Amino acid sequence: MHVNASPAAGIRRCRDPAYCERVSDIDWGQGTYETTAADLLPAARELVDAAQLKPGEHVVDVGAGTGNVALLAADLGARVTAVEPAARLREVIQETAGARDLTVVDGTAASIPLRDGSADVILSNFAVIFAPDPAAAIAELSRVAAPTSRILLTSWLPGVMGKLVGVIVGAVREVTGQNPAAGRIDWHDPAALTTLLAPHGYQVTATTLELEVVTPSAESYWDTRIANHPLGVTTFPILEQAGRLDDVRARFLQTLDDNWTDTTGQVRLPAQYLLATATR
Ligand SMILES: C[S@@+](CC[C@H](N)C(=O)[O-])C[C@H]1O[C@@H](n2cnc3c(N)ncnc32)[C@H](O)[C@@H]1O
Repeated sequence: MHVNASPAAGIRRCRDPAYCERVSDIDWGQGTYETTAADLLPAARELVDAAQLKPGEHVVDVGAGTGNVALLAADLGARVTAVEPAARLREVIQETAGARDLTVVDGTAASIPLRDGSADVILSNFAVIFAPDPAAAIAELSRVAAPTSRILLTSWLPGVMGKLVGVIVGAVREVTGQNPAAGRIDWHDPAALTTLLAPHGYQVTATTLELEVVTPSAESYWDTRIANHPLGVTTFPILEQAGRLDDVRARFLQTLDDNWTDTTGQVRLPAQYLLATATR
């Protein structure tokens, strides 16, 4: 597998090169995203609860990952389409779906292979926020959504996750000049969401929630949540090649110790996120 570490060459390290061409430099099919998916399940539950789904509604889960939201929605009697650009994750959803009314399709937030107005509800748990062109993504969601419809999404608030991910992406930026997790807009800001969604006839309301991630130690957080996460799999070879990985790991563990590790060594991350609901 080829690793690019020079600013000119970029940071791509894709399991599926076609994915990186069309989506982003981080291929979420790499490594083991499943551990993080389990961490995000409580937020998926909040998202699905807030959507107040009715049986038979067509629900589209955009950036479905391993299917957290799609599976919950299907279990409530919705007809579900899971849109996911990473081929390996589509296979995971398909295997878990069993007999549920759940169709898995290849697509991105800006390119969804569904008819105009065919979705009653669009849900996206920490996913549409990765769209390289937010306005194009929202326009596509609006196209697929019915004239009367709702779009619900979650996004991290600045703080815990920003601080932790910042240790890694800050170092990558120093090495390559690129930010592998650059946010294009403040998806956690209701005013920014209103600016995006109001032109499509949506009114936005939002609430702040907290999701707790607990690990036995800072080292175990690094090993189970970072080293094999798609972000780690993408960036570690670059940092290693630049001789920075050990330093980044030490700074990451120090950040956990300074802020979120208790006297027993246990890590408790109080990660706040926005749950936004757009209706028209
Ligand atoms: C943090 S994961 C969230 C996955 C899932 N929603 C969950 O609850 O675990 C981000 C997901 O967004 C997908 N993704 C990344 N860029 C995307 C884009 N432009 N459009 C749609 N999905 C995207 C990734 O492939 C990945 O599955």
